[in-house]
Amino acid sequence: MNTQDEIKRRRTFAIISHPDAGKTTLTEKLLLYGGAILSAGTVKGRKNSKHAVSDWMEIERQRGISVTSSVMQFEYDNYCINILDTPGHQDFSEDTYRTLMAADSAVMVIDASKGVEAQTKKLFKVCLLRHIPVFTFINKMDRAAMNPFALLEHIEKELGISTYAMNWPIGSGKDFKGVYERDHKQILCFAGGQHGQREVEKVAGDIQDEKFRSLLGDDFYEQLMEDVELLDIASTVFEADKVQNGRLTPVFFGSALTNFGVEPFLSHFLAMTTSPLSRYAGDVEIEPTDDHFSAFVFKIQANMNKAHRDRIAFLRICSGKFEKGMEVTHVQANRKIKLAQPQQFMADNREIVETAYAGDVIGVFDPGIFAIGDTLCTGKPFAFDKIPTFAPEHFARVQQKDTMKRKQFLKGITQIAQEGAIQVFQEINIGMEEIIVGGVGVLQFDVLEQRLKSEYNVDIKLDLLPFQCVRWIENEEIDPNALNLTSESKRVKDLKGRNLIIFANNWGIKWALEQNQGLILTDIGTVE
Ligand code: G4P
Repeated sequence: MNTQDEIKRRRTFAIISHPDAGKTTLTEKLLLYGGAILSAGTVKGRKNSKHAVSDWMEIERQRGISVTSSVMQFEYDNYCINILDTPGHQDFSEDTYRTLMAADSAVMVIDASKGVEAQTKKLFKVCLLRHIPVFTFINKMDRAAMNPFALLEHIEKELGISTYAMNWPIGSGKDFKGVYERDHKQILCFAGGQHGQREVEKVAGDIQDEKFRSLLGDDFYEQLMEDVELLDIASTVFEADKVQNGRLTPVFFGSALTNFGVEPFLSHFLAMTTSPLSRYAGDVEIEPTDDHFSAFVFKIQANMNKAHRDRIAFLRICSGKFEKGMEVTHVQANRKIKLAQPQQFMADNREIVETAYAGDVIGVFDPGIFAIGDTLCTGKPFAFDKIPTFAPEHFARVQQKDTMKRKQFLKGITQIAQEGAIQVFQEINIGMEEIIVGGVGVLQFDVLEQRLKSEYNVDIKLDLLPFQCVRWIENEEIDPNALNLTSESKRVKDLKGRNLIIFANNWGIKWALEQNQGLILTDIGTVE
């Protein structure tokens, strides 16, 4: 297959959901259909201590939440699929944002009994920023569920997006009997499925086929006919371009646990979602089919595998073909490097990749040279648009307990900050003695504490500080010490040496702007 065809058959997407809606279960089922794993071993299997393949870190296991984003590749129906897993917890929304930068579309998993939950909303907003297509999978139809019409209305109201039901559930809870496929006017009636361990068996046929009356029972059959009629009259018109720019979400009903509706979802989704999208370097559009290889770093993760003790930079390939050992320009460092041992992630193991194409994600060893947003390319060097960082909303003072371990402490905290997991600030005038960390959520501090202990063998003392916002000082000529600020503000520097002010509240920001003519503050920094 030539490079162009390889690129066109790629589908790279992220799955987002509120914790517990079934993201991990759905991911595993997709892997199962793709033959990437043989048995779902009941998913995360917290009960039998077998963990989902996408859960890597200890803290994820302890808390049952996904903290980091992992990447999994598999083949299905001649598509090459890259799933980017995202953390479910809002405290890690920045990580999710970066992952969405690497994705071309998103699948939003919603619990049928709960509808849109707090975290779904936040993550959806992140998708909106990217204008990528969002597909909705309404999960857990095998449990008591909200009425499907009410669910669609609820999604539209809560998220401000139009919906279009691609299929329609027949019954719910114990009576979830199958789905009706609107485009082919077909009923898929489910039978068995070995409690979700294997692919589900199904009986398919035209909705008018009388066999379904007896298979489903009179009541369900008639209810379905009624629903379908109503849907055809009342539902939004399907418009592909609205799907492409994230203004209309195709909705699928199913149950990841029992496999009901998963495969129909997968086939439709793959046919409808986009092949790799272009990325931008200022005004220049870098198309996936460009001859030259290009990629950007969207994630850096240290010590993913305790046995390896390494640090991996995840690259999203944006154009061309990658070949093992190829020499590329690391644009930000202005030097050439050889990508010697790139890895790809297939379910639960890593493999060395020989070739990869635009749309794929590869991991390369990072001896501490990469930063989030860096560009790697062949040909004439250029830099992809930067990835913004979120202004943290929680702050803590951190000290190592054992003063002899100062070196490890600084190394650990700097490395973890380079991964983008937390932001590190030093108080101006005090320097590295006084370290303040900032995070989008407090759980990031727990992760920091745990990682410093397990990976760097450093115990820390962490005191939460009563600050709520931080702003970068845009005017480079301004001396922060000369600024007139409230006593509840703190002048700090970030690791790049840029000046910032940490404030107790918005009132402090207002005061600073009023009292210091010409001061420019921004709430979004750019990772360089
Ligand atoms: P998450 O990644 O979005 O956090 O959710 P996850 O897949 O871990 O699923 C959360 C819980 O919901 C799990 O149960 C899982 O088995 C269950 N679940 C997922 N999909 C479905 C579904 O379609 N139907 C039903 N009935 N349940 C579903 P758990 O009890 O927390 O874990 P486990 O002990 O079953 O592993």
